[in-house]
Amino acid sequence: MKKDLKQAIEKRRTYYSINDKSPISDNEIKEIIDFAVLHVPSAFNSQSTRVVLLLGDNHKKLWNIVKETLRKMVPAEAFPATEAKIDNAFAAGYGTVLYYEDESVVEGLQNAFPSYSENFPKWSQQTSAMHQFTIWTLLEEAGFGASLQHYNPIIDEEVAKTWNISPKWKLIAQMPFGTPNGEAGPKEFQPLEDRVLVFK
Ligand SMILES: Cc1cc2nc3c(=O)[nH]c(=O)nc-3n(C[C@H](O)[C@H](O)[C@H](O)COP(=O)(O)O)c2cc1C
Repeated sequence: MKKDLKQAIEKRRTYYSINDKSPISDNEIKEIIDFAVLHVPSAFNSQSTRVVLLLGDNHKKLWNIVKETLRKMVPAEAFPATEAKIDNAFAAGYGTVLYYEDESVVEGLQNAFPSYSENFPKWSQQTSAMHQFTIWTLLEEAGFGASLQHYNPIIDEEVAKTWNISPKWKLIAQMPFGTPNGEAGPKEFQPLEDRVLVFK
């Protein structure tokens, strides 16, 4: 790691202006995903997270699906802005990470531990979030910029059909990434005193 952990966490930001260059090889991107999927914790060690890495034409195809889905939903006069955002902030990147949760794992846990039944779907979401944050941070550390998008559930069916994804995998988030064209925008921080309590 070129940056230490705290630096990498601080530098992870949302990047909407990205291009299709990659600072690392595709194998190294895959290693980042593998590392996170192997080492990020999950509720009851369920390992319910599934990740799909889309590169090249597959990445472009995803954002085309988003665009064509939205074209049918967004008023015509508003669509040019939607299209520009998809083209410039997402499709323009190098790849996209799709985050799924395997519902068969969640259902299995609900059956095995009925007293926690209501909690497992929430813990599954939290498990996914931990993977998202880890991969987001590691991509940043490798020189990429990324953002986190949620075009689920409107794209779920078409995406599942296109990449033959199991119907048990529930799409949670999409993370387009590429080389940043500039710095991330400014960010406001709310006072820590309102957000952290210490009693000692
Ligand atoms: C759970 C979660 C959901 C988010 N959903 C979206 C989203 O749908 N679209 C988007 O552009 N950004 C999304 N974001 C990004 C946040 O807007 C962003 O992380 C926040 O404004 C802080 O900025 P930073 O990422 O640059 O630190 C999401 C972030 C989190 C943690």
